[in-house]
Amino acid sequence: MRTERLAAGDIGRAAELLRAGRLVAFPTETVYGLGADATSEAAVLGIYTAKGRPSTNPLIVHVPDADEARRYAATWPAEAERLADVFWPGPLTLVLPVAHGIAAPVLAGGDTVGLRVPAHPVAAELLRACRLPLAAPSANRSNSLSPTSAEAVLDTLDGRIAAVLDGGHCEVGIESTVVDLAGGGCRVLRPGRISAADLSEVLGRPVASAAHGHAGPIRSPGQFPRHYAPAIPMSLGSVPEQLVPGQFVIRFGAQVQWEEREAILPSDPEGCARYLYLTLRAAEKSGASSILMQNPPSGPGWEAVLDRVRRATQPA
Ligand code: TXA
Ligand code: MG
Repeated sequence: MRTERLAAGDIGRAAELLRAGRLVAFPTETVYGLGADATSEAAVLGIYTAKGRPSTNPLIVHVPDADEARRYAATWPAEAERLADVFWPGPLTLVLPVAHGIAAPVLAGGDTVGLRVPAHPVAAELLRACRLPLAAPSANRSNSLSPTSAEAVLDTLDGRIAAVLDGGHCEVGIESTVVDLAGGGCRVLRPGRISAADLSEVLGRPVASAAHGHAGPIRSPGQFPRHYAPAIPMSLGSVPEQLVPGQFVIRFGAQVQWEEREAILPSDPEGCARYLYLTLRAAEKSGASSILMQNPPSGPGWEAVLDRVRRATQPA
């Protein structure tokens, strides 16, 4: 299959392909998504095949606004209304009991659905043009880094999908915050730019983060110990003055910078998240056999980056 490279303005072609049940990767503010018609079982199964994704891992459904989201949720608690109001469009996924209309493979055997209204203008326009809810996981083969550029999508999916819409580099750079509202409570299944503290502030009560020691069954494969990991081993530590042969070194500094065998990531959490996957991808491509990352800063706002880094450094 030849994968069409579409410019951001070519929404019409992308919508036409999606309406025909094909797979189209598109930019969101977090990472690129691999979109398919969420109402078509055949189209959604295509996502699992293209990604090599286990059929037990549910997909997020993207919709243009909260009214559309409400159509696919069997219940819409006051907390969903409040969070949607404050954070949509944006990098937040709400898990709710599913209503009908969504193809079964999206749910991976469960009775809940993850719903998100993306903020990226190309994603928003695409959702309106195709008039379909779009199931979209990150647009990468399973077990590789989430892509933050069209080029990174093609790295693992070229020839496996109908098209990629090029919307440039993603602004947030890491995946959305996934919040479980299905069980009556509210807990974070996957941290993202919107933190548990941000959610608590809006809801006026503490919000638990499953990423920190929740004991129940794994609800979200983003909770697997090793995930979001580069293809070469990565470790954390203090970084030596001299480069070690075969090693790619990542430090923290004022501004992002890439060299052949080293990179600097911004020392603020949002800047770091924005360039994290791009930098790990550069490291993979550098020919180095391992990555050493300076111990990242910590403190408020760092939980999502630390979560990704912790999972990336788990042994395979
Ligand atoms: O930012 C994002 O969320 C990106 C963009 C494309 O929207 N999407 C993304 O999708 O990261 P994916 O499939 O790579 O990660 C979705 C995460 C997985 O950990 C999945 O298990 C969880 O969300 N998830 C999806 N539906 C769920 C559900 N019904 N219940 C619990 N977790 C769910
Ligand atoms: Mg993913």
